[in-house]
Amino acid sequence: MNPRPLSALPAVLLSLLFISVPLTVAADNDSLFDCRVSVDGAKFDLTQLAGEHTINKTRELPPSTMVDSLRFDLCEDLKKLDKVADRDQCKTGTRACLSQINKKDDDPERVISVIPIVQSSSINPSYSAGQDSSKFLTIVFKGPEYPNPITTTPTTQSFNLTLLCDPEGNEDPVFKSYDGAQVQVEWKTKAGCPSKEGSDGGKGGDSDDKNPPKDKDENNSRSAGSGIGWFFLMLLLAFAAYFGLGAYYNYSNYGARGTDLIPHRDFWKEVPYMLRDVVSHLCSSVRSRRPANRGYIAV
Ligand SMILES: *[C@@H]1O[C@H](CO)[C@@H](O)[C@H](O)[C@H]1NC(C)=O
Ligand SMILES: *[C@@H]1O[C@H](CO)[C@@H](O)[C@H](O)[C@H]1NC(C)=O
Ligand SMILES: *[C@@H]1O[C@H](CO)[C@@H](O)[C@H](O)[C@H]1NC(C)=O
Ligand SMILES: *[C@@H]1O[C@H](CO)[C@@H](O)[C@H](O)[C@H]1NC(C)=O
Repeated sequence: MNPRPLSALPAVLLSLLFISVPLTVAADNDSLFDCRVSVDGAKFDLTQLAGEHTINKTRELPPSTMVDSLRFDLCEDLKKLDKVADRDQCKTGTRACLSQINKKDDDPERVISVIPIVQSSSINPSYSAGQDSSKFLTIVFKGPEYPNPITTTPTTQSFNLTLLCDPEGNEDPVFKSYDGAQVQVEWKTKAGCPSKEGSDGGKGGDSDDKNPPKDKDENNSRSAGSGIGWFFLMLLLAFAAYFGLGAYYNYSNYGARGTDLIPHRDFWKEVPYMLRDVVSHLCSSVRSRRPANRGYIAV
């Protein structure tokens, strides 16, 4: 019926489909926070703040003392601590973890609550920046829910980090407050100063040097990702066109109805059997590589 070369088309399309699936999964990775922020044309390089930081805030609650201890790493997941019990720390994939620890005289410390504030799977940051008289960058990361300490209703946690521009600054971050929902941290640091493309940034000279290549990387991976998405879309369109045109062809030339409309129907009927053959072929080659087991296989 159909000319020979055309009957190879479905097989080609099918194999393209299988090849492209793992590619799209691997490329789906640019939603992660990579410590480079660009707001209203201003760029901030937070890689200089990478690494783990622990900051404490102490509240006197006689006869005991409560320590709110925030551990965070902006650019990577926190590592598990060896000397702390598993239930007393956040699980892997956490970037900011708040532990509330109660101390009373000579009694052993007691971890009251462990609150994951930022998780890298749902990091979702929002930014605002001041560029005029007071230069700063505020990042708010939304986190998972944790029961409110008073009402116990699940409350979305967030991490409000304000980086105040201080060209000479190399201070430690300061734990301002935690209200049961939002941790506020303020940090005087160079990283709060925007670095512009070109040379008029001046002060942030070294970060200017580091900026362009990494940004190009980001651009490249993003365009690669969208290229693959585009390829996938074209593939779907090709499939749709193939079935649409094939059905129309069968309909107008043979007056086909129902399943007869499917182009290369005989080929598509064969596909499940072909797959079965491939699988059984693979299985038998695996089995024949381990001939010792052969005698024991129950049939
Ligand atoms: C995403 O990228 C980061 C670093 O860029 C890498 O460490 C991580 O393994 C990647 N994740 C996936 C799922 O590819
Ligand atoms: C914060 O408090 C914890 C728990 O008491 C303590 O282990 C840690 O050393 C403190 N860190 C700093 C930087 O004060
Ligand atoms: C983050 O903290 C700053 C300083 O307290 C505040 O002005 C701002 O509204 C906070 N942002 C959010 C989204 O809560
Ligand atoms: C990515 O590339 C486009 C055009 O190629 C450019 O306008 C844009 O500034 C680049 N983005 C970054 C973050 O470098």
